[in-house]
Amino acid sequence: MVEAGYETVAREIIKCTRCPLHKSAIRRVIGKGSCNPKVFFIGEAPGKSENETGIPFYGRAGKELDKMIEYMRLSEEDWMVTNTVKCHPPENRKPRTNEIECCKPFLLSQIILLNPKIIILLGNTAEKSFCPGRKLEWGVPVEHEGRMILKLYHPAALIYTSSKKEIQRAFIDKNRDLWS
Ligand code: URA
Repeated sequence: MVEAGYETVAREIIKCTRCPLHKSAIRRVIGKGSCNPKVFFIGEAPGKSENETGIPFYGRAGKELDKMIEYMRLSEEDWMVTNTVKCHPPENRKPRTNEIECCKPFLLSQIILLNPKIIILLGNTAEKSFCPGRKLEWGVPVEHEGRMILKLYHPAALIYTSSKKEIQRAFIDKNRDLWS
C-alpha cells in the first residue's frame, strides 16, 4: 500500500519540469531506504555521483552517513534518506529557494506516506526547506507541525571538520529515545 503510493510519487518526480534543475539532471534522485522508516533523513541535494547513479548519498558523504547510521544503531528497515531537491544543481551549487519550494510537495508527500517517527534535518538547507523561517538549535529536537524534528550536521561537514564528529555523536547519544 505504502509502496504503491511511493511509486506514484516517484513517477511524478521522474516527470517533473517545475524548476530549471530538470534540464541538466541525468537521473532523478528520489530516495533510498525503507518504506516503513522510524527515521527520515533529509540531506541537501544530489551531487555528481548521485546524479549519475540516481542513488542519494552514494558518494563520499554517503560513507559518512553510513557511519552515522551505524552509530545510531539503526537497521536497514529503520531509515529512509532523500534530499530537499531531487535533481542535481549544476556545479554542485546549493539549491535555490525557488527550486527547494518547487520540490517541496514531493518531500512532503514522501513524509506523509512513510509517516516516520522522527525527521532528521542534515544541515541548514534541509532546515530551510522543511521549516523555512525557523532557526533550530543543532542537536535539540523540537516539534514541527505535529512531528518531531532534529537538526544534525550534514555528513559532508563531518569529513572536513573532525571536531564535529564528536559533537555529532554526543547529539546522537542524547537523542536515542527518539528512534529507539
Ligand atoms: N549530499 C547531499 O546532501 N545529498 C546527497 O545525496 C549527496 C550528498
